[in-house]
Amino acid sequence: MPSASPCALVIFGASGDLAKRKLIPAIYEMAREKLLPEQFALVGYARSPMSDDAYRAECREAVQKFARTQPIDPEVWGRIERNIAYVQGDYGSQADHGKLQDTLRKIDADKGTAGNRLYYLSTPPNTFQPIIECLGKFRGKSGGWERIIIEKPFGRDGASARELNALLHKYFDESQVFRIDHYLGKETVQNLMVMRFANSIFEPIWNYKYVDHVQITVSETLGVGSRGGYYAQSGALRDMVQNHMFQLMALVAMEPPVALDATSTRDEKVKVFKAVRQLRPDQVDQYTVRGQYTAGEAAGTKTGGYAKEKDVPPGSATETFAALKLYIDNWRWSGTPFYLRTGKYLPEKLSEIVVRFRSPPQTLFQKQCESPVYPNDLIIRVQPEEGVSWRLNGKVPGGSLNIKSVALDFLYKTTFNVEPPEAYERLIFDAIVGDQTLFIRGDEAEAAWAVIDPIEQGWAQSARPPEPYAPGTWGPKRAADLIEKDGRRWLHLNGEADPVVACSL
Ligand SMILES: NC(=O)c1ccc[n+]([C@@H]2O[C@H](COP(=O)([O-])OP(=O)(O)OC[C@H]3O[C@@H](n4cnc5c(N)ncnc54)[C@H](OP(=O)(O)O)[C@@H]3O)[C@@H](O)[C@H]2O)c1
Repeated sequence: MPSASPCALVIFGASGDLAKRKLIPAIYEMAREKLLPEQFALVGYARSPMSDDAYRAECREAVQKFARTQPIDPEVWGRIERNIAYVQGDYGSQADHGKLQDTLRKIDADKGTAGNRLYYLSTPPNTFQPIIECLGKFRGKSGGWERIIIEKPFGRDGASARELNALLHKYFDESQVFRIDHYLGKETVQNLMVMRFANSIFEPIWNYKYVDHVQITVSETLGVGSRGGYYAQSGALRDMVQNHMFQLMALVAMEPPVALDATSTRDEKVKVFKAVRQLRPDQVDQYTVRGQYTAGEAAGTKTGGYAKEKDVPPGSATETFAALKLYIDNWRWSGTPFYLRTGKYLPEKLSEIVVRFRSPPQTLFQKQCESPVYPNDLIIRVQPEEGVSWRLNGKVPGGSLNIKSVALDFLYKTTFNVEPPEAYERLIFDAIVGDQTLFIRGDEAEAAWAVIDPIEQGWAQSARPPEPYAPGTWGPKRAADLIEKDGRRWLHLNGEADPVVACSL
């Protein structure tokens, strides 16, 4: 593992939800795991007025509440707390950014952080431009390396992503830019690469000849909550599919990279997005379904429906559910559908990939069995209970020939006896050591938007509004129709009963 060089981490939006729930606890866990450099400082930056001490107290509270390992170790926390500072300022004020740079210079002198800066933009997207402009004006003066992490969403379409890329590249080299998608920091997602490329059994069957189709589900049990205003401008397609779900799809579908470095890996993901068949706006109703939740209850939470949520503009046609059927038109995946679905207020919170294999060529048991023998599934669970499951058919013991689909399970928690680290721990560490492999490259973000844009355009032109669906269901009926008309159905491991096929000898 590379060692982290001395640096200061500046969090813009330090008073925000992400900083408190994820970033500060991740810093604590990294310190506990000895992944932070000896000379490390954390600088919070936001508009809210706060003293250094008040900010330290906020950070301590966040760690006590959200850190993965509890109770917190006072010695570890003490080491971080001594090196925390806060700067109050507007995101687009050159003068305030000047104050920040003064603070950082003082920290360099006092703490030995060597002019190395990692700037984390944990703010709403409308602040990205002013922050980048201001940082750009001060770039190259610190005497060390400068890197910038940008939270999602990276643009709201291809055009805005290109603009943001152009702005970043005006001041920074691509090697300094770390576009984050925290899914890539999850252990199971990284394990996808290991599973595919460190085992010889998968490669021969990982293609259209043996794979019937792939399903990716990312479901949430909550609604838009207090983010109604933001969500109305975004929707499930932009919020979940363009980033998290497309990353999962790319890792399943990509060719083996020639090396395990950022360029080789990201080259292969870009090729996948370029090979996804783009839908014409008039095809969108045939290949996609969008939905909006109505009034009801899911997982113990009640809602008056999306339209009644706080800050949702009247008549908002934003989708809270999306299902897509996509094709990747390349040699490996020719004719193999990739079904993706995501939504709010669904019955369970899970992120799961199912690779369904074709049935055996000779249905030896079929003649004796009353229903079709279950095909094989490889299920990769990203959350909860990170792990991998194979579904194979086995004979139920006894005189009669009953076939049961059984699971061979690999659960991270029980196999390795550890809780996997939080995605942000891995990603912040990678940014400190300058490894971009698990971050999105600029052209990759644009290539993903090129698939999404025609769908958004098709929906905008479509006479068919989002279909209503009741909270606690798996979305509108048309989402089931989308896959069932192909003779398939949505699957997921949790709640899927082990099917038994009764056969007569
Ligand atoms: N929260 C999550 O779980 C999560 C997950 C994935 C990605 N993200 C992304 O991470 C970023 C930060 O998320 P967050 O949930 O922490 O956001 P947030 O709490 O809404 O905002 C972060 C901070 O930005 C400032 N801010 C809020 N609205 C602003 C506005 N309209 N103009 C200028 N400044 C404003 C506020 O600080 P001051 O008023 O003190 O300046 C706020 O504390 C966003 O881009 C979000 O999309 C968040």
